[in-house]
Amino acid sequence: MEILKYPSEVLRQKTLPVVDFDKNLKQFTDSMITTMLEGRGIGLAAPQVGTLLSVFVLQVEEGKPLVFVNPEIVGTSMETIAYEEGCLSIPGLYEEVVRPEAVQIQGFNVKGRRIKMECADLLARVFQHELDHLRGVLFIDYLNDMKRDRLLAQYQKNLKK
Ligand code: NI
Repeated sequence: MEILKYPSEVLRQKTLPVVDFDKNLKQFTDSMITTMLEGRGIGLAAPQVGTLLSVFVLQVEEGKPLVFVNPEIVGTSMETIAYEEGCLSIPGLYEEVVRPEAVQIQGFNVKGRRIKMECADLLARVFQHELDHLRGVLFIDYLNDMKRDRLLAQYQKNLKK
């Protein structure tokens, strides 16, 4: 799969929920996992490969890759934390973003079984970043204008190389 790069318009669109938990969904998420791992990413959302479905995959640390379908955040910690983020769709650009430290999440796995879990640290961070992709939000949206303009100017320059 090809990973769409900023400023692709697809990255700004909202996704639709998955209705059929069928063989096609399994094939699709398997391909997403392969693409994520080949790109040395720790998360990848469907819009990043041009599909407007509410699906993302992630793999943090040594764990197994996880698939989340129709995910949502149902609770967030009061505590927030700054953490450096990057994105396979905005290669080479990294910046600290402040988000809740822990989140309670729910959704479905690829077989349509309900998942509910509490996550903190890196997993919570990746989850929030990927969930944003499903509603057309990118991590650069959280930066102040000055910082964003500076980083994007550098990014555009690198693209032309
Ligand atoms: Ni991303």
